[in-house]
Amino acid sequence: MNNTDPIYNSLMMKTIRKEATDQKPVWLMRQAGRYMKEYREVRAKVDFLSLCKSPELVSKVTCEAQEKIQADAAIIFADILLIAESFGFDLSYHEGLGPVLESSDPQALHHIKAISQDRILNELSYVQEGLKQTRKNLPSDIPLIGFAGAPFTVSSYLIEGGKTKTQFQKTKDLAMSSPDTWKKIMEALAQSSIDYLKMQIDAGANILQLFDSWVGILNPEQYMQWVEPYVTQILQEIPKEIPTIYFGAKTKHLLPYIKNLPCSIYGISDDQDLVEAWDIVEGKPIQGNLSPEILLQSWPQVESAAKKIMSQSYGRTGHIFNLGHGILPQTPVENVIELIQYIHEYRQ
Ligand code: CP3
Repeated sequence: MNNTDPIYNSLMMKTIRKEATDQKPVWLMRQAGRYMKEYREVRAKVDFLSLCKSPELVSKVTCEAQEKIQADAAIIFADILLIAESFGFDLSYHEGLGPVLESSDPQALHHIKAISQDRILNELSYVQEGLKQTRKNLPSDIPLIGFAGAPFTVSSYLIEGGKTKTQFQKTKDLAMSSPDTWKKIMEALAQSSIDYLKMQIDAGANILQLFDSWVGILNPEQYMQWVEPYVTQILQEIPKEIPTIYFGAKTKHLLPYIKNLPCSIYGISDDQDLVEAWDIVEGKPIQGNLSPEILLQSWPQVESAAKKIMSQSYGRTGHIFNLGHGILPQTPVENVIELIQYIHEYRQ
């Protein structure tokens, strides 16, 4: 990438390099989703997995969402659990229940091995093709974000069989009682995620986000022992010219540890004050952290919460506006459009 490249000169990339910009970049986690009429129309015709596996539809919903809300980045439409199919698990999604993961082999997790690069290229080729088409269809100055789930968060679904019903007890039990199996699972997921993310770079991803959504349930000691080495390994393997974002929900108590990860941007969740977070990460770029629940309120409340974040970060470089977790399906789309316009027009 050279300095006449529209992506290099985008609001997102300038902000990541901590250059001054006259507007702040903003995008929202899960910006293509059920709160949007256009998305619901597509989903009325195809189930969620078929949508993820159709490069044409992936490109359509990714680009439509970016354009409709005027976000400064697009995130490829996919899911962190797609990779589980390549590990031999059956993956399905159920209304109200969320994802369900099953394996015919009860010992599957005990002899898990990293998936070969070839297998990733083959079995997740629809993600590769979706990225290629989306990159082609997006405006040339809008970065495309690729992503993967981090090993802890993905393993929690494999171990619990879906969304946890026990506050991640099975996952914690396995980590505590079978450290060798735990290490095997984490190493297999880390190595496969590296290959998967590199494939996404080759297919056109300009930035990568690692979703470690559920690490917030761990204490610092557990985080450092069970999670940190594998996340570090993944982040170290990503070529330096591709910025990386690391995100976990409700991670205020872990930020003093997360701050040492070799990522380019820290995703800050909504349990934390932005200025405090910035002090902890020593001024490195951050992303966040409006509470998604605020967007369910009327505009004056949204505005007041957005204003707080904007005034806290005004005049400082290196802040990407986002939510503290994914957007909720009940969110009124008008609030989202107005929020992004507000951020773009904000002057102190
Ligand atoms: O951000 C985007 O617009 C890109 C798409 C995206 C989806 N999932 C689409 C999706 C991304 C980045 C994800 C990541 C993801 N998936 C995470 C990490 C982010 C987070 O929110 O913490 C997690 C934990 C998952 C696993 C997952 N996938 C769950 C728990 C669910 C069910 C959620 C629910 O509310 O039903 C999914 C399904 C899913 N992934 C949907 C979407 C739009 C809803 C499916 C539908 O259309 O019915």
